[in-house]
Amino acid sequence: MNVRLDTTVGSLKLTNPVLAASGTFGYGLDLLEFCPPESLGGVVTKGLSPRPRRGNPTPRIVETAAGMINAIGLQNIGVEAFCREALPQLRVRGAVVVVNVFGERMEEYLEVIDRCEAEDGLAGYELNVSCPNVTAGGMEFGHDPVPLERLTAICRAATRRPLWVKLSPNAPDLVATARAAVAGGADALTLINTVRAMAIDADTRRPILANGFGGLSGPAVKPIALRMVWEVHKAVPAVPLVGIGGIETGRDVVEFVLAGASAVQVGTAIFRDPAAPLRIVAELETFCDDHKVARVAELTGGLQWR
Ligand SMILES: Cc1cc2nc3c(=O)[nH]c(=O)nc-3n(C[C@H](O)[C@H](O)[C@H](O)COP(=O)(O)O)c2cc1C
Repeated sequence: MNVRLDTTVGSLKLTNPVLAASGTFGYGLDLLEFCPPESLGGVVTKGLSPRPRRGNPTPRIVETAAGMINAIGLQNIGVEAFCREALPQLRVRGAVVVVNVFGERMEEYLEVIDRCEAEDGLAGYELNVSCPNVTAGGMEFGHDPVPLERLTAICRAATRRPLWVKLSPNAPDLVATARAAVAGGADALTLINTVRAMAIDADTRRPILANGFGGLSGPAVKPIALRMVWEVHKAVPAVPLVGIGGIETGRDVVEFVLAGASAVQVGTAIFRDPAAPLRIVAELETFCDDHKVARVAELTGGLQWR
C-alpha cells in the first residue's frame, strides 16, 4: 500500500508530520549524517533572541528515570548569526524551517520576527512563551491569557507567515491560554513545552542543576502531553495542533495524531538516537501500512472516546 504521509498545519504543507523540536536539533545542521533536515517534515530552531545568550551556569542537564531535566536558559547564537550563517545552508538543502522565537520583553519577540521577515526560505514562527527555566520572558507570557493574547496579536501583525504558539504545561489553565493564543491570531498551537521539575543530590543535599529548577522532557511527560493535546483539541477543534512530549516511536506519533495533532515534534529522543526522527517517520509509514491507513492526516482527532 502506498501510504501518504503528507499533511498540513494550517496553510503550511509538510511532506511528513515529523519535525525536530526546538532546542534538541541545534539550528538543523549539527546532525547532517544522521538526520538531514530536508528529510523531515520540518525543523524548529533553538529559541532565537535578538542578541546571543550564554544561558544558565552548569550543570544544566540531568538524566531522570524516563527522560531528562534541562535548564539551558535559552543559550543561542542570536537571530542575526542564525540568518547569516545557518539559514543560507538550510535554504540550499530545501529544509522546512520554523523559527522558535524567544524574548524577555514583547519588543524582543518582535525584533526577532522583524529580522527574519527580511529573509526568504522560512516556513513560519513558533513563539516560545513557555520556557520554565529563565527568570524573565517565556512563562510570564505563557501563563496569563491576557499578555499572551497581546503578544500573539503583536507578532501576528508583524508577519503573514504561519504563527504557532507553544503552550506551557505549567500554566494554571491550559485551555484558557490556548484560547488566548487563538484570539491573538495564532495559526496553530504547539504543545507541550517541558514540565517544571527539579533533581536533588542526596549526598550534597543540594539541587543538581545550578539553576535549581529545570524542565522535564522525554517519555515521562508523554501521558501528560497526550492528555493536554486531547483537551485543547476538544476546546478548539478547528485549530491545528502540533503535538510534542516524549515521542520515541512511530506508534507514539499515531497516539498524538489520534488525540488531535496534525503534526508532531521529536525532542529528547534525539539525544539518545540522533537519527530518531527519521526512524520514527519510517515506523509511522509501517504502522499505517499494517493498519490499512491510506493517509496519516485522516487519523487526526480520531480517538474513539470509549
Ligand atoms: C535541551 C533542551 C532544550 C530545549 N530548548 C527549547 C527552546 O529553546 N525553545 C522551546 O520552545 N523549547 C525548548 N525545549 C523543549 C522541547 O522543544 C520540547 O517541547 C520538550 O522537550 C518536550 O518534548 P520531548 O519530550 O520530545 O523532548 C528544549 C528541550 C530540551 C530537552
